[in-house]
Amino acid sequence: MSGRFITLEGSEGAGKSTNLEVVCKTLVQAGIDVYRTREPGGTPLAEALRKLLLAEWDETVDGVAELLLMFAARRQHLVNEIEPRLAAGQWVVCDRFTDATFAYQGYGRGLPLSYIEALESWVQESRRPDLSLYLDLDPKIGRARIADRVQDRLEREELMFFEAVRQGYLARAREQSHMHVIDASVPLAEVSAAVAGVVQTFVASQT
Ligand code: TMP
Repeated sequence: MSGRFITLEGSEGAGKSTNLEVVCKTLVQAGIDVYRTREPGGTPLAEALRKLLLAEWDETVDGVAELLLMFAARRQHLVNEIEPRLAAGQWVVCDRFTDATFAYQGYGRGLPLSYIEALESWVQESRRPDLSLYLDLDPKIGRARIADRVQDRLEREELMFFEAVRQGYLARAREQSHMHVIDASVPLAEVSAAVAGVVQTFVASQT
């Protein structure tokens, strides 16, 4: 049987790293063989594209150029890592995927969603996440939580950008049945318990 594809999305400072661990542990405890990866990234070429995407440049980074680089990295990652692992029966847990593109490049940058939908069909063919957990947090709270971290090009965007990104995720969650919104404003232990609960329910529904 082929594996399942689970993605985790979250606003900055929403506890994504901790909860990725929770997702993986919950699956391992259920006896599932898990492969953890991230986007942009996940292969040598895609990780090199990630570095370019997050670096500061002495020029404006065009939104469409940013979008195409995201999808170039995604294609490489899908073909060389994600698809072969799913075909071999492994479950793949990915830190961000195309829901992030809709939220950041679509709602954040204001690019037409039709561009993203077209690239999604072209690059991913029929592949979509089976389950996606979105850790939702007011960006004002999230930014305060990560204020002491060194920030990359995207993290340095204005608050308005992150508010639009959040609205993008929430709009997508209303339309897409694979997305589950988790309130990340409550204490981390409660967030993790909610994450584990959604993953356990999903596992139970697959067997
Ligand atoms: P991370 O730091 O959460 O791993 O994600 C890297 C950054 O890339 C984060 O700011 C979100 C952004 N991003 C996009 O803008 N579009 C995408 O499609 C993906 C996957 C990430």
